[in-house]
Amino acid sequence: MIYARIAGLGFYVPENVITNHDLEQLMDTSDEWIVERSGIRERRFFTEGKDTVASMGARASELALQQANLTPEDIDFIVFSTLSPDYNFPGAGVLLQRMLPFKEIGALDVRTQCSGFVYGLSIADQYIKTGMYKNILVVGSEVQSNIMELSDRGRNFAVLFGDGAGAVVVQATEDPTRRILSTHLHAQGEHAEMLYLEHPGSRLKDRMSTTIVEEGKHLPHMEGQAVFKHAVRRFPEVILEALEANNLTIEDLDMVIPHQANLRITNYVQQKLALPDDKIYSNIQRYGNTTAASIPIALTEAWQNGKINQGDLVCLAAFGSGFTWASALLRW
Ligand code: UT7
Repeated sequence: MIYARIAGLGFYVPENVITNHDLEQLMDTSDEWIVERSGIRERRFFTEGKDTVASMGARASELALQQANLTPEDIDFIVFSTLSPDYNFPGAGVLLQRMLPFKEIGALDVRTQCSGFVYGLSIADQYIKTGMYKNILVVGSEVQSNIMELSDRGRNFAVLFGDGAGAVVVQATEDPTRRILSTHLHAQGEHAEMLYLEHPGSRLKDRMSTTIVEEGKHLPHMEGQAVFKHAVRRFPEVILEALEANNLTIEDLDMVIPHQANLRITNYVQQKLALPDDKIYSNIQRYGNTTAASIPIALTEAWQNGKINQGDLVCLAAFGSGFTWASALLRW
């Protein structure tokens, strides 16, 4: 049997730290409100001319490759998850492919927002298990600071999101004791417009107009409370689904790495599953919500800090725009 395991991981965040106090200068908000409602204290914003979604993905990929003891020539396929590609087309995957000395390998872009990394991992798992590829790079990278309006009008969204990238190398293995055990993917498109960015899209003859900009419809729209309610239901559900499919229980878990949406959401999930503090990881305080990048950044940090060790049972879980939600259970 061929299985897939994570053989290397890395992350990159832009150097530009934006604190809640910096945001107070730009909009009617307060450090107290942001910390109380989301747990976030600071986030990173990209530097124009230096950071792009593809270049940040490349930096994270280099670290993941180094750690897996591989070179770009060893990689057979790229899966790139982002909601904020450098161009409308082509996708960010091909831009990453030309940045490092990869061979002319396939590059697939995934568009499932906050669940993008887990969806990407699931794709890599399947390609490896069929024997088609041996080493796949799965990347999540986002530049979101420039799709948010840093003003009173955009404040419910702008205080939550940040920029950054994470990457993992998924590798073929015959060792059943260290591998991706399963992935579970879900979607409920009826709620697509609860968290979406409408323009520029292909529905209108004029993809962009002054009216669209004046009405702020080129900016993301989020029904925060509704998203929150669905998130606190779907996170525990999809974690339990993963455990059940593998005949395991909550007590077997060593670490849960949830998508970093909101510290209140993570605390709710922790409470619902009765997980002790050291079995669920949060770094949203320092990076905000980095969408498809949040899980690989948190996973890398947790691993670097010695919170994940060989043999541990690790669950990744995500929820976001679509709605989409997903989990991956790993034996580290
Ligand atoms: O990856 C998935 C992506 N999204 C999420 O996970 C978001 C899920 N939702 C949330 O995290 C929360 O709903 C938010 C953090 C977005 C908002 O927290 P909330 O407790 O649901 O606040 P609210 O939207 O009910 O707003 C409460 C008040 C309102 O004022 P009034 O009507 O009570 O006077 C808002 O206008 O807070 C006001 N408000 C703000 N005040 C200061 C909204 N945004 C801000 C802000 N600063 N940035």
